[in-house]
Amino acid sequence: MTNQRRVTLVNEENQSVCELPVLSGTTGPDVVDVQDLYKKTGMFTYDPGYTSTASCSSKITFIDGEAGILLYRGYPIEQLAEQCTFLEVCYLLLNGELPTSSQMDQFEHSVTMHTMVHDQLTNFFKGFRRDAHPMAIIVGVVGALSAFYHDALDITNKKDRDLCAIRLIAKIPTIVAMSHKYSIGLPFMHPQNKLSYVENFMRMMLATPCDDFHPNPILVKALDRILILHADHEQNASTSTVRLAGSSGANPYACITAGIACLWGAAHGGANEAVLNMLEEIGDISHIDPYIKKAKDKNDPFRLMGFGHRVYKNYDPRAKLMRATCHEVLNELGLHDDRLFKLALELERIALEDEYFIEKKLYPNVDFYSGIVLRALGIPSNMFTAMFAMGRSVGWIAHWDEMISDPEQKIGRPRQLYTGSTRRDVVPMAAR
Ligand code: CMC
Repeated sequence: MTNQRRVTLVNEENQSVCELPVLSGTTGPDVVDVQDLYKKTGMFTYDPGYTSTASCSSKITFIDGEAGILLYRGYPIEQLAEQCTFLEVCYLLLNGELPTSSQMDQFEHSVTMHTMVHDQLTNFFKGFRRDAHPMAIIVGVVGALSAFYHDALDITNKKDRDLCAIRLIAKIPTIVAMSHKYSIGLPFMHPQNKLSYVENFMRMMLATPCDDFHPNPILVKALDRILILHADHEQNASTSTVRLAGSSGANPYACITAGIACLWGAAHGGANEAVLNMLEEIGDISHIDPYIKKAKDKNDPFRLMGFGHRVYKNYDPRAKLMRATCHEVLNELGLHDDRLFKLALELERIALEDEYFIEKKLYPNVDFYSGIVLRALGIPSNMFTAMFAMGRSVGWIAHWDEMISDPEQKIGRPRQLYTGSTRRDVVPMAAR
């Protein structure tokens, strides 16, 4: 990881203040190692939003935002989306290599055998209001998992960590589907072992005990792809949250819950729901212009949801794949004339031609299209962020495991630039 290069920090008189080593990864930008900066200079670095900060080293996912490249364990997202299933991608993210067919069978079997939740856990749902946002329920219920599966919570034991990973990947779809069923007052559907991971989720989510369930392979493939595209995205806000929570030694269920809570925000995983709400609000192609004006107005907090990305500045490779899936699904369902889809395409066209969006490099991101696909699959918009969480869970676990296994791992503890009052004395209340 080290490299012979060093950077020298100089003062106004051009005198060297300190030398800092430069580290190189296998690809991507080099990093300046500032770990000794405070010891050597008494100064911290200042980087709110971490736009120039590498918070850790990682072997899991690589993004080149300028070139629109996304690799999981070295494999391009396009190839994984075309050639692999979500569970294969889970195996890859967790283990570093794609599975052989027998490894895959074993992995799929383990996941399938853990899809049921402890029966007592179902009582948790009843404590929530029926109109609670499903993400609020999911945060609560996933957080409760450590109270049920404490037989394998030794985070220093790789076997325990692997079992937690399987349990989380297996149970999150069940919990997500239950949160939906609870909110609409329908009975929970138990998992069925003969179904694939995605078929099983679709059945638990969309079917009722009164009817047989016949999964449509095109729709199953579309949902599988959504999960693949959301499975990991290096040190994004929710993954960094999981790592930070885990750095104190907290149990994995607690850490993943922290990630789910962070994901919920509209600037992150909440965007897919926000896109749909925005499209509904715009309502018609003839109403787009005022919204574009609002998005460009510096004094208006409104943003075009589904546009822009912290890292991708030319295009989001996931968006390209999701756009293709969107067409496939709408064609399959005979929905190409869908009002919101037409509106979305028009919004995309206008924004891509608009000087403001071009200059600021604001392109449609994955969530611009995923909401339209999810809606076509019959998933209500208040469940969209939960779907993102379902896909991202494996990424969170892979990062948590990588962090725990890293010999350099220590508790995450950023410092600050203090701008509050300097030392002062308390004045007795009577004298204030
Ligand atoms: N609509 C209008 N203007 C925008 C938008 C937008 N969607 N996004 C950014 N801008 C403007 C912003 O006002 C700023 O302008 P200025 O330079 O004049 O101050 C400039 O573009 C840079 O924006 P920023 O907020 O500094 O950029 P960021 O890297 O901190 O934010 C973002 C990235 C994704 C939070 C932001 O683009 C955004 O809020 N987009 C809408 C929400 C969204 O779609 N989020 C999903 C991201 S993809 C899923 C995921 O990975 O979680």
